[in-house]
Formats: sequence, structure tokens, C-alpha cells
Amino acid sequence: MNLTIVGAGYVGLVTGACFAQLGHNVICVDNDSDKIKALKKLKIPIYEPGLDDLVKKNFREGRISFTTDIAGAVKKSLVIFIAIGTPPKENGEADLTGIEKVAFTIARAMTDYRLIVEKSTVPVETGRWVKHTIEINKKKKVGFDVASNPEFLREGRAIRDFMHPDRIVLGVESKKAEGILRELYGRIDASVLVTDIRSAELIKHASNSFLALKISYINAVAKVCELSGADIEQVAEGMGMDKRVGRAFLDAGIGFGGFCLPKDLDAFITISQKLGYDFGLLKEVKKTNEFQKDDFIRKIESSLWNIKDKTIAVLGLAFKPDTDDMRFAPSIDIIQVLQRHGAVIRAYDPKAMHKAKKIFKGVKFCRDAYEAASSSDCLIILTEWQEFKELDFKKMKRLLKQPLIFDGRNIFAPEVLKGLGFKYVCIGKGAGIKE
Ligand code: UDX
Repeated sequence: MNLTIVGAGYVGLVTGACFAQLGHNVICVDNDSDKIKALKKLKIPIYEPGLDDLVKKNFREGRISFTTDIAGAVKKSLVIFIAIGTPPKENGEADLTGIEKVAFTIARAMTDYRLIVEKSTVPVETGRWVKHTIEINKKKKVGFDVASNPEFLREGRAIRDFMHPDRIVLGVESKKAEGILRELYGRIDASVLVTDIRSAELIKHASNSFLALKISYINAVAKVCELSGADIEQVAEGMGMDKRVGRAFLDAGIGFGGFCLPKDLDAFITISQKLGYDFGLLKEVKKTNEFQKDDFIRKIESSLWNIKDKTIAVLGLAFKPDTDDMRFAPSIDIIQVLQRHGAVIRAYDPKAMHKAKKIFKGVKFCRDAYEAASSSDCLIILTEWQEFKELDFKKMKRLLKQPLIFDGRNIFAPEVLKGLGFKYVCIGKGAGIKE
């Protein structure tokens, strides 16, 4: 089938490349001409495992192309996915001006029946507005449908999540729209939930907010573990053995970041407020997530005495491993607060350095973990990159001014580092400080 994806970002590019891989003809549209120029030269603007090869392969086989011309793409495609960013406004609400502009442009360009599909994470009721915008701007005789097909892609494993989803959600208003989407996803072996547009939109926000809730819950339990001398990893293990709870997303740490969970949580709180419900539970989730970062800094302070003029080595800047994405990364707040306290920061991340350099001021960016550690007063881990788990701690000990590690993602076994003579501080284990 011929389809257009509007928005060549994390979601749009992965979705387009995967649909092309399934055999469809995909046009990726973006209003950023530099990005499109780079894509035409097969320079992929984001790091996502496997995406580079997937785009190149399908580009060579002529199933994916790039353009800034939405109107031209609409004329050639039966299905148009809207996959542009819905960044949060000051009040936490999703900014939908881009969505409205795209809907307007699609409406003006349509000459035959088109299925317009919301792929971006949008507040409930957006489908109704997209439909209204197209209705009043299209040519009289042209038919169309609107649908919601939310994505559940995790950065760092987005292609796998697309090709092997737990479920495909189709929010539709007609059998025709359902048929087209079923055919589009025909080669993917996954359960399909067909529902109405509002429910499909809400499934996305409710799912992401639940994941955020699960993370904040385990982080709050981790605090109780620290105060009671219990071990959060044992507690998470025991909880996860109950199928109704499930072990996934019970990893205590410095909290969640990324462009999805924080934004979707805010949006869901705001939507609920606008609909007349004060979602206090989700406000607590947000508060707990902020607490995790503050509490981590308190731990650093309580072991360093004064932070001022101390040199702190930071390993990991991306909001999670296997991505270069810095959006809402916990490292941003943590580093900026440490700098406000007068700390000198030496930082290293395997993939996110180029993006981090646009965010941080006065940070010394290092070539590797060892350069970051050299002559630093302590080492802090903010992202659980695999390569940090394989560090040579004997060498680390020689490089650090003192053998002091703050592990924000519990990637090390306390007894191993203690055995090497480190003072090891992590999340949710005993008194929080391992002498
Ligand atoms: C999330 C959802 O998982 C995905 O379904 C949705 O489509 C987009 O948002 P993503 O933001 O890419 O995906 O990353 P995810 O793996 O969910 O992690 C989000 C944040 O939660 C990261 O900062 C991660 O470090 C943190 N996290 C995750 C925890 O702190 N503990 C956990 O147990 C799991």
C-alpha cells in the first residue's frame, strides 16, 4: 500500500522504515528541510539500534523516500500517518498546533478518499478536532476517515517493539478504515484491539502514565527499604513473581525521563483536569519522580561534605541506555543542581555527547569513563549503559581522588565494590551507604 508518514522523528522514521520493511511504499515528510536533505543522503539524524540499516536497505529497494512536500505525498498515498511531535506547553498540555496545521494541509491536498491516522501521542478528543479541521477545509466531494493508532515504541528497542508488539490498537469509526489498517499491519503477528478513537487515544496516555506510576511506586518503596535496611532488588524480585504485578518497570533508580513518560503524565493530568477530574494519584507520581533526583543529590552531599569546588565524574547522560536522546533526562536536573552547588563536572556518555553539548554549560566532556574519573572526587552513574558494568574498578580506584561511587541505577553489586575498597551509595539498599 502507499502511505505517507508526516514527521520524520523517533516515531515517524521508525514507523516509516518498518512499514517499508513490511513491503509498503512509504513517503516520509518533514518540514525540516535540513533533516530531509540529510535523510536523502542516508544520514539518519537519530541513534536507534538497527534504524540506520533498515532505512538504507528500504531506500535502496525504493520503498521509502523523503520530502518536505506534504501535498504531493498526500496525492500519492491512501493512508497518511500524523507522527509529529506534541511537545508540552507551559501548563503541561500537549501543544497541538502542529497537528492542526498538518490536518489543514492534508485537507487542502486531498483529491480522493484518504485515511488520516493519529500516530503521535495526542490527548483524547484530538481525533474529533482533526476530523473537524479536515471536514471544513477539504474539497466538497472528497471522502475521508480519521483513525487513532497509538505507538508503544521504546527508544533503544523501537524496531523490535514495532515488529513484535504486545498489541496493535486501532481506533476507528468505519469498517473501511478498519480494513485498511488491518491490511497495513497484516504481516505483523500480534493481537489487534479494534475500538473507538477516544478509547484508543486514552489507552496510550493511560498506559504510559501507569508505567510512570509503577516506576514511582518502586522508587518510593526503595526509600522505605533504605530506612528499614531492606534490599529493593530483593523486594522487586519478590513482587514481580506475582503475575498480576510483573517484574518489568520495577527497577528503582533516579527516576524516569525521556520524551514520553514525563510528557504523557503531564498531559494526562491536564486532560483529566480539563474534563473535571483532579488526578491526584498522578500528581504524586510526578512528585516522587522529582524527589528521586533531589534525594540522590542529598546522598552525594552527605558523603562529600561540601559539593563546592569538588570535581564529580558523571557516567551516563542519555535518559536511558541504547539511545542518544537527552529529552527530560534525569542527568539534566542533577548536573545543573550540582553545578549550582559549585561542583566541577566531568561527563561521559557512549552516545549522547553531541546532544548533551547543546544542553550543558561548563561541563568537561570526556572521551571515556576513565578520563571522566581521573582526579575526580567521586563517580556518579546516571544511565545504566552496558559498558559501565564492565569498567575496570582497580583502574578506577587509582584514577579517583577517593574511592566513592554513587550509583543512580543500581548497576553494581555492593559487596563487589565494597570488596575493592569503594564506598558505594545506591538506591534502596539498607542505609543507602555501604561503608
Ligand atoms: C516509554 C514506554 O515504555 C513506551 O511504551 C512508549 O511508547 C514511550 O515511552 P521510552 O520512554 O522509550 O518508552 O523508555 P522506557 O524504557 O519506558 O523508560 C522510560 C524511563 O523510565 C527511562 O528514563 C528509564 O530509565 C526509566 N525506568 C524504566 C526506570 O526508572 N525504571 C524502570 O524500571 C523502567
